[in-house]
Amino acid sequence: MPGKITLSVIKADVGGYVGHSDVHPTLLKKAEERLKAAKEEGLLIDYSRQKVGDDIALIMTHEQGTNSIDIHRFAWETFEACTEVAKELSQYGAGQDLLADSFSGNVKGMGPGCAEMEFEERKSEPVIVFLADKTEPGAWNFPLYKMFADPFNTIGLVIDPNMHGGFVFEVHDLIEEKRIFFNSPEELYDMLIFVGAPSRYVIKNVFRKSDNVQAAATSTQKLFFIAERYVGKDDPVMIVRSQSGLPAVGEVLEPFSFPHAVAGWMRGSHHGPLMPVSVAQDTPTRFDGPPRVVGLGYQISKGKLIGPRDMLGDISYDNARQVALNAADYLRTHGPFEPHRLPLDEMEYTTMPDVMKKLAPRFESTKVTK
Ligand code: 13P
Ligand code: 13P
Ligand code: MG
Ligand code: MG
Repeated sequence: MPGKITLSVIKADVGGYVGHSDVHPTLLKKAEERLKAAKEEGLLIDYSRQKVGDDIALIMTHEQGTNSIDIHRFAWETFEACTEVAKELSQYGAGQDLLADSFSGNVKGMGPGCAEMEFEERKSEPVIVFLADKTEPGAWNFPLYKMFADPFNTIGLVIDPNMHGGFVFEVHDLIEEKRIFFNSPEELYDMLIFVGAPSRYVIKNVFRKSDNVQAAATSTQKLFFIAERYVGKDDPVMIVRSQSGLPAVGEVLEPFSFPHAVAGWMRGSHHGPLMPVSVAQDTPTRFDGPPRVVGLGYQISKGKLIGPRDMLGDISYDNARQVALNAADYLRTHGPFEPHRLPLDEMEYTTMPDVMKKLAPRFESTKVTK
């Protein structure tokens, strides 16, 4: 039995089938082959090859720790190998998420989304891995707040003595590249000022306050300031451990019963509801969406990934899907108007600088002159 194990979830879009809706099975096969070989060679204890929408997810257990150059190189080279297949099949946006020309030691900030956690495996280790498409890392702020800070979601915060002390949230400022830790519940009002602005402030990790046990980790990506806007903030992943002094599986899943509005729909430039879906329904279609999330449940056993169970495919999420579809109709009706369309400085695509330049000479001053 391993001492500490590391769970790494690394996800990238290396070519869409058709458009941005799905991943072609041939690419998934290539990823599977590479993962199988890495397990046989002993780099990995176990793996689970998954996807959501047009993104391939490598879910891996190993003993190399977080930020391991070997694991990150393996993931990068796997996405490169899948990109070759994507190019052969002329898949849409082949290699889209490999922002750098070559690997430089860590996939973070290079395009792929990456969440990792190193921990001592408990007697029973239920873990949920969430994968989202057509949204951004800040999409996890709302569900993480509900899971670890809201007693109306998580009754364990009130009645489980092992959780009653609360949790610590590590929040990152993606623009200034800084971080801060907030204690919950006592600093929640301060924290909400920041995490309520999820395009900039993102919950990166959550720890149990009493013993610093890590409960959750998300992918946060560096933002690149290109053509007067930030890019590179989409399609996040999240790991949440549960039970035995952490939120129960049902408490971890409960926030997704409300499809909250997130950024990232159509051209990364629109708000839409984050719809919980089954693995079979993870293919965004309408207006390239709506944004969606799958929840993959594993019991980790001696580092082996026993699973996944398709947690959000259950009938009890049907109402949330209906609410999401209604919200999608409501928002779509706004067409090119905010708040469906993102504010100017947050859109991934924008013609504004060009249009502004073209029209600059035609703007007349309306200032009142004395
Ligand atoms: P644990 O205290 O074992 O996590 O059980 C809580 C539970 O599962 C209630 O739904
Ligand atoms: P992806 O980020 O999932 O490739 O989606 C791109 C997009 O903007 C689709 O409209
Ligand atoms: Mg894509
Ligand atoms: Mg995607």
